[in-house]
Amino acid sequence: MQSFKSQESPVTEKSYTRADWQGGYQSLTQEFDYWIDDIEGQIPRELQGTLFRNGPGLLDVNGQPLHHPFDGDGMISKITFTSGRAHFRNRFVHTTGYLAEQKAGKILYRGAFGTQKAGGWLANIFDFKLKNIANTNVIYWGGKLLALWEGGEAYRLDPYTLKTLGNEYFNGVLSADEAFAAHPRLKNNCEQDGGAPCLVNFSIKPGLSTTITIFELNSAGKIVRHHAHSVPGFCFIHDFVITPNYCIFFQNPVSFNPIPFALGIRAAVECIKFQPNQPTQILIIPRFPKKGQEKIKILETQSGFVFHHINAFEVGDEVLIDSICYQSFPEVEPESDFRQVDFEALSPGQLWRFYLNLKNGTVRRELIDGRCCEFANIHPANVGRPYRYLYIGAAHAETGNAPLQALLKIDLESGERQFWSAAPRGFVGEPIFVPRPDSEKEDDGWVLALVYDATHNRSDVVILDASDFHKGVIARLHLKHHIPYGLHGSFTSKVFVKI
Ligand code: CO
Repeated sequence: MQSFKSQESPVTEKSYTRADWQGGYQSLTQEFDYWIDDIEGQIPRELQGTLFRNGPGLLDVNGQPLHHPFDGDGMISKITFTSGRAHFRNRFVHTTGYLAEQKAGKILYRGAFGTQKAGGWLANIFDFKLKNIANTNVIYWGGKLLALWEGGEAYRLDPYTLKTLGNEYFNGVLSADEAFAAHPRLKNNCEQDGGAPCLVNFSIKPGLSTTITIFELNSAGKIVRHHAHSVPGFCFIHDFVITPNYCIFFQNPVSFNPIPFALGIRAAVECIKFQPNQPTQILIIPRFPKKGQEKIKILETQSGFVFHHINAFEVGDEVLIDSICYQSFPEVEPESDFRQVDFEALSPGQLWRFYLNLKNGTVRRELIDGRCCEFANIHPANVGRPYRYLYIGAAHAETGNAPLQALLKIDLESGERQFWSAAPRGFVGEPIFVPRPDSEKEDDGWVLALVYDATHNRSDVVILDASDFHKGVIARLHLKHHIPYGLHGSFTSKVFVKI
C-alpha cells in the first residue's frame, strides 16, 4: 500500500520497467471457464453480480503483429460474484472480421489505428473497409449483453456463455451502416422520464461536416428518442456526457487529411493532425429538442484533447463537466512501435473541470488534479447529476506521464485523495464502482479493477473498499493467466453463472 506520504520525497527512479509493462500486451488466444480458487482475502458476500470487461484479446493475427492495440479483436472477460465466490470466463466476439481472419490465418482488413494488410500500399489502396472489432466496451441493457465499437454496429452476446448472437439493430431502428458508439451513458433515474432508467448513446458520421445522431433507449431496450444533427467540420469524438437537458460533445481541434488513407499509405487515425492553435469546440445538443429549438449551441475553450469525460451536471445557468484532458493528441505514427512508446515524451491526461455558462456563452476551466490519469468511474446513480466521489486509474508518480499503476479516489467536495498503488510490477485497468446493496452513502461499496501482475505474468481482480482505500485490497483474485490490457467494462447486479 502506497500513500501520498511516500510521494513527498522526490521520485528519481521510475516506478515501473518497460519490459514489465510490455508483458500485458501479449495475445491471449485461449478461452477459459473456471471458478477462481486462488484468492487472497475474502470476497464480500454482499457483492453479487457480474463484471464484464472488453478489450483487445489479440495483438497479432497468427503471428502477424498489429500496429496498435486498438486494432485488436474484442475479447470479453466476465467475472461473476455470487455467495462469496467468483467465476471467470472469457470469449472472443465472433465478428465477421475475426472469423474471416482466423480462418485465413492472416490479416485481411485494415485497422483504423494503423494495421495494414500485407503487400504494402498496393494491397491497401482505396480499401475503406475497416473491421468492426467490437473491442471497446460491453454493457448489459434491456436484457441484452452488447459488445461495442464506435465505428460500427453493436454485437449481441449470450450473458452466460458469451457466445456471439449477431448484430443488434434495436428492432430495425438502426440500419446496417449506422454505428452505435462505445460510450453510452446509463442513467437509472431519468428526470424527464419520471425517474425511469434510460440509456443515451450516439453515432458519428464523419466528413467535411459531421452528423451526430443521438439515441435514447428505455429499460426494455427500445429506442424512444432518435435525432440527428449536422456539425460543421471534421469530428474525432470518442465520448460524451449528458445532463437532464443536454448531450455535450467536445470537438477536439484536429484536422483530417484523407488522401494518405485513400492511397493506402496511412491508416485513418494516422491522418489526424492535432491543431494546437485552434480552440476546442463544445457542442451542446438538447436531449429533447422542441420544434424550432433544435439548434446546437457551440462554445469554445482552450486547445486540448479529450478522449474521456467523467460526468456533467447543471447548476443554474452553468453546466459543469469533468474530463480527462491532454495538452495534445498523441498522434499515431506509421513507423512507430506502440510497445516502445516513450511515456515521458507524451503529455499526461489530467483531470479538469469545465464551467460552461449557457447564458453568456463563456467557458472557464480549472485543473482538479495534475497527476497522469485515465479511465474514471462514479456511482451509477449520479450520471448527469451533482456528485462527490470519483475513482480513476492513475500513475504511481505524482508528476509526468507513465503507465497506470494506481487507483485514485477523489473527494470533489473536500479535496481529499485516497491512493492505492500496484507499483512497481502491477499495472491497472479501468476501476468500476459497485454500490453496496441498499447503501445510502455515495462511496459505500467496492471498487473492482483488473491488475496485470508482471511478477507472475497473470492478471488479478482486485476489490477495494470504496469508502476507504487505505485498507488496501480486501480481496485479490489470482487468475490462471493474464488478460491483455483492456478498455472499458461495466457491472450488473445480475448473476450470470450456472451453479
Ligand atoms: Co473509451
